[in-house]
Amino acid sequence: MGKRKKKRIRIKKKNFILFILFLILLFYAISKIIYITIKLIETSKPIEKEEPKVIEKTLTPTEKKLKELDNINKKIDYFHMDYLDRYLNYKEKNEDLEIIQIIKNVNMNLDYNYYENTEKALNKDTPLILVNKHYNLEENDIPNNLETVSNNYALDDVKLVSIAKEAFESLAKDAQKENLNIVGMSGYRSYQYQTNLYNNYVNKDGKEAADTYSGRPGHSEHQTGYALDVYNLKENYTNFENTKEFTWMQEHAQDYGFILRFPKNKELETGYIYESWHYRYVGVEVAKEIKEKGITLEEYIATRPIQQ
Ligand code: DAL
Ligand code: ZN
Repeated sequence: MGKRKKKRIRIKKKNFILFILFLILLFYAISKIIYITIKLIETSKPIEKEEPKVIEKTLTPTEKKLKELDNINKKIDYFHMDYLDRYLNYKEKNEDLEIIQIIKNVNMNLDYNYYENTEKALNKDTPLILVNKHYNLEENDIPNNLETVSNNYALDDVKLVSIAKEAFESLAKDAQKENLNIVGMSGYRSYQYQTNLYNNYVNKDGKEAADTYSGRPGHSEHQTGYALDVYNLKENYTNFENTKEFTWMQEHAQDYGFILRFPKNKELETGYIYESWHYRYVGVEVAKEIKEKGITLEEYIATRPIQQ
């Protein structure tokens, strides 16, 4: 081999090595560029906020139901745990009502129709006895301590429970001092008496109408001995609202422990149309509170703290 040939071969070898080195460098450079580009793309991505992991306590079925009622049980002392499902059912049918009203209405049994699911009278043998279209007395329920109201203040044979009789006589006596006659017409009525009365009304006006103004047997609070119808000796009792005696009663009845039992615009709660002549003894303190708040006996009892 000549010298020249050898030299050429060496040059070729050198070029080949350089070419390989160049390829390696090129490959390295390209992979570096790709790597940097990927990194750049990654860092330019908006960082996704990781949702804070709220560890939600799993609620028991009862806790879930209470939550639906805004946990109002923690804010009021007349929430009946045993009415929980009734509150929810009533809420479903009365979406417009505030939760507080839902509680009050169900406590008054307004989720039931009148005379449906009736129960025994509440607070029996006390001035807070509750008898209405949801609560009843039995045929043989006769109050203790019935006494006849003096003829100075009542028609013949008007009886009331002793404490109510005393209070009414004192009321009528004070009214007389102002030349006003507040006269008891009908006080205690037995189950049997109410049966005849109600039946007469049904025969006269039909059951639907009678139910708006007369209690069915066992459902009239006249049977409690704490209720009394009055008039002023001159006018028919149905016109009592337009007498001076009525105005006096509006101002003073509560001072003697009496309330107007079936006020205007409270038909839903009481179950009866307005009766300006029907008064009910509940005791002075309660009567004053009921008067001041403009509520009915039903509302008063429905919002009383539950006895523990
Ligand atoms: N008039 C009243 C509502 C009663 O019968 O008891
Ligand atoms: Zn009456």
